[in-house]
This record gives sequence, structure tokens and C-alpha cells, in this order.
Amino acid sequence: MPSTVPSSVGRSAESVSLRFPTGFVWGAATASFQIEGATTVDGRTDSIWDEFCRRPGAVANGDTGEPAADHYRRFRDDVALMSTLGLGAYRFSVAWPRVRPSGGPENERGLDFYDRLVDRLLAAGISPWATLYHWDLPQALEDSGGWASRDTAFRFAEYAESVVRRLGDRVAGWQTLNEPWCSAFAGYASGRHAPGVTSPSAAVAAVHHLLLGHGLAMERIRSFAPDVPAGITLNLFPVRAASPADEDAARRVDGLQNRVFLDPVLRGAYPADVLDDLTPYGLPALVRDGDLSVIGAPIDLLGVNYYRALLVAAPVDPDPAPTEWVGVEGVRFLLSGRPRTDVGWEVQPDGLTDLLVRLHDEYPRLPLYITENGAAYPDVLGEDGVVRDNDRIAYVDGHLRAAHAAIRHGVDLRGYFCWSLLDNLEWAEGYAKRFGLVHVDFETQRRTVKESARWYAGVIAQGGLAAE
Ligand code: FCB
Repeated sequence: MPSTVPSSVGRSAESVSLRFPTGFVWGAATASFQIEGATTVDGRTDSIWDEFCRRPGAVANGDTGEPAADHYRRFRDDVALMSTLGLGAYRFSVAWPRVRPSGGPENERGLDFYDRLVDRLLAAGISPWATLYHWDLPQALEDSGGWASRDTAFRFAEYAESVVRRLGDRVAGWQTLNEPWCSAFAGYASGRHAPGVTSPSAAVAAVHHLLLGHGLAMERIRSFAPDVPAGITLNLFPVRAASPADEDAARRVDGLQNRVFLDPVLRGAYPADVLDDLTPYGLPALVRDGDLSVIGAPIDLLGVNYYRALLVAAPVDPDPAPTEWVGVEGVRFLLSGRPRTDVGWEVQPDGLTDLLVRLHDEYPRLPLYITENGAAYPDVLGEDGVVRDNDRIAYVDGHLRAAHAAIRHGVDLRGYFCWSLLDNLEWAEGYAKRFGLVHVDFETQRRTVKESARWYAGVIAQGGLAAE
């Protein structure tokens, strides 16, 4: 078990001058496939990620969903750990192949796990925030077309109903999907993620069917947990053109990354320019009467995952390799010279302020939550048992200041979930890329609270940060 975390990190409450609003939700996030392990236990069947991990070369080092952070077996200790950090909320995701293995009938034992987790969280005074889909589609549903098939949206709604019926009385906030951009474009266009398909038109079909699945799942949430706030989590990026000649590429990237999801959900329509850009890939033909009113039905909150901004330059001759950038093949992403994290992402906290202010200014207003933000660094567990991850502290500190700046601008930001509670399987990057506040030794499953976690616990205890 971790050592005790101090309730303050050396600053008195009086020195806190960047105070977050009363009731601000302080949390940490994880996702089922990245931490649970136990992939063949209690009736769980394969997800697309189990299958993808078996594909030679698909995941770094041949890493798989075993053992991950063995959270399925260690969730009680992990909740105790969250308590020592003073987390107010925990965002986890539910594994579809545990709840409806192979996309078929409900599996009580799978639901029981989340039932126990939620009760444990509540007993510890931590609000459970559940995400219904963080990328682990049952492989059997992929075999019958996956998200490229319209039917998957309806299967998702059935699964959502199973979860919401069981947990709806106790979950504090629902997210339907996590980052549908990744599911659609990394999953079906570049094939960098499961299911590893490389078809631009399948990716565009996946966009629409994921959005439809979101809308249909919202209907089930409304029916079975009408009082619980619910929404979707998108990975959004400020997009800047490197020069005036790059404006069209930047518009297209913004369209594919941000507006193709934001506009249908928040305005009930695809943006006209994105519909045009994606006509060669079949988007208009996918949209049936009534779909957009399902997709655009009101949500209570928007989850924002923010890691960095994009600086875009016009395409050069497209590399023949499959790309995520459907319709803007060959587009270039430039570096702006900022420090980079261990996954190569530039540290750009000001982009978070810009993004939140844009959402506030351009879209119908609704409560915003940062449902993910954090950084991978090559952490070292010292012989003294300490992980001195000052770079991660600086990253989170900078982004919290940026979030606070947005709040001062008037943005209705209500919470922050750090990615991630635990080191975990960073998808195709495997276990080598560590995003955790808590270090996990994947051989022994020993948890070590990093210095960043101690620091974050202090921020939570004080409700904010000292002025710089
Ligand atoms: C996001 C994912 C999350 C994690 C972080 C680093 O795109 O939602 O699972 O991998 O990136």
C-alpha cells in the first residue's frame, strides 16, 4: 500500500490565490482495457484490443491487456489509494465485453464487478463517473462490421441500458463515448489502433455510427437514470495554420478533429464544409431521417480531453501509407519548439485556455469538464522508493493555471480529471509510456505514489494553486 500523502504540500491555505469554484470536481481517470487485466475472467470475451494486441507489430513490445495494472483484482486497494490522495471523483470505463460478452446477452458477473467498484467508491466518499465506451468493442461485433456497421450503434444502446439499469442509481456522471475520433480515424483509417482497419470510408461510417450510438445511449440514460448528468467526451485540439497558405488544411483538420463531432452533438447538424469534404467518402448517404435529432438531443455536460494543440501546414505529396487525415492526406503537423513529453506531444497549456474559450464562445453553453489531461514521462523509481516526476507536476500545474484562466474568462468549467490514476497500457505504445500519478511495477503490481500525486493531493486539499 502507498505511504500516506500529506494533506498539504508546504503551502498554507492563505497562499492559494488561484482558487477553483466551490464544488469543482477533482478527479483522476482510467479506462478498462488499460488497467483491468483479467481479460478471460468471469465471462469476459475478447475485445478488438485483445485481438489487435495479438497482431505482430501492432503494439510496442508485443504488450497485451495482461496483466495491465491488475485492477480487476486489486480495485479495493486502488480505491484506498484514491482516498489517500483525496480524490473527489474517479472516472473509469466499463468494458462492454464483460457486460455483454461477444455483444450477446447480459453477463451478471461482469456487471457485478462494476457494482462492487461503484459501492467501494461511494463508501470512500469518491464520486463514480462512468464512461460507457473507451474503445473495447467486443470482437464479435467487429466481426459483423464493427462501427462501420449501423447496427453497432443499436447494440451499443442495448449494452448502455444494461449498465445504466444496474449502476444508474449510484453513478454521479455518465459519458457515452470516449474520443470517438480515435475510434473512427485511428481505428478504421490509419489502423494505428484496433481494429486496425485502413479504409477511409469505413472510418467516416464509424464517425456517424459512433455519434448515433451516443444519441441512442443518451436516450437509455434518460430513461433509466433521468437525474444523472450525462454527455460525451471528445478529444479536442486548437488548430492553427502555420501560414495563410495553410488555412484550408487547418480548416479541414479542425473539421475532422473537432467540428465533425461538436456540431452534430451540440447543434444537431454536420458542418456544411465537413459534409462537402467527406462527400467522396460517403458521409451524406449515411445520414438517415431522424438521426441528427437523436445525435443532437440535449446533453448535460461536455467532457474535454486536452493534451496539446495542432500547428498545421498544407499537404505535400501524400505518403501512400494509410492516414487518419481523410480528405487532407499529406497534411503536415509542425512543431512549435515547446518541450515535449515522452510520447512526443508538445507541452502547450495556453492551448487549453484557447480551446475552452472557443467552446464557450462558439457553441451553446453547457458545463464543461476536463475529463483527461496529463503527460507521459520516463519516470524512474529511485532506490529510495521515490518517483521524482517534477516534469509531470509542471505539466499539470501549467494546465490547471490555463484552466483557471478560462474560468476567469467566464467559462463554466466544473471539474478536472487527471490522466491517469495509474501507469497503464498506453494502447499501441504499450506499457513503456507512463502517464500515471501512481507508478505501477508491472512485474510485481506494486504501486508507488509519485511526487506528482502528492502534489496533486495538496492542490485538491487546498482547492487551488498558489499564484506564480
Ligand atoms: C487519450 C485516451 C486515453 C489515454 C490518453 C493518453 O487519447 O483517451 O486512454 O491513452 O490519451
